[in-house]
Amino acid sequence: MAAAASFLSTSSILHPSRSTSSTSNTRLSTRATFFSFPNNCNKPNHTISFSCSADPSPSSAASTDEPPATKPLIELQFIGTKPAEDGSFPVDMVSAISGEKLLRNIMLDNNIELYAAYGKVMNCGGGGSCGTCIVEIMEGQELLNERTDTEKRYFKKKPETWRLACQTIVGNKVNAGKVVVQRMPQWKK
Ligand code: FES
Repeated sequence: MAAAASFLSTSSILHPSRSTSSTSNTRLSTRATFFSFPNNCNKPNHTISFSCSADPSPSSAASTDEPPATKPLIELQFIGTKPAEDGSFPVDMVSAISGEKLLRNIMLDNNIELYAAYGKVMNCGGGGSCGTCIVEIMEGQELLNERTDTEKRYFKKKPETWRLACQTIVGNKVNAGKVVVQRMPQWKK
């Protein structure tokens, strides 16, 4: 009742008989509705509504907080092997933190098809010994590691742009940019 009396006292200064006021600080916003009694009122059956809620505005956050550190990203585009009816090739897009994963793992983690029929059941699991995880880097070669000795052995007579996804590190932790990958270049139509 003490709080109610306080608001009634304040509202008696306000006119017309009902008004709304908002106050806020860094943590809470407060909205109170005031009612004033008519001069001749002697029945204390008026009601007062009062509510407090956390202020969701960004300005209420502590202004001294450091922004979260961001790591450089590599944006990857994977081009499919078969064209759609309109002649365009499907493209899957994924982003990965630079230098943290092999291309093979990024593709498998995102359900992007890497292996053709034989490789699906007979691949070496990323050991570099089956030669079935072939991709072609159409753009962004400079954002990847150099071809490994294993790749050089497999791709002696193949295009320079071909890579084994299980030997290809995406990014070097400090670079960022776009890499465009043709899936299963050996089967592209
Ligand atoms: S998964 Fe076998 S060589 Fe890449």
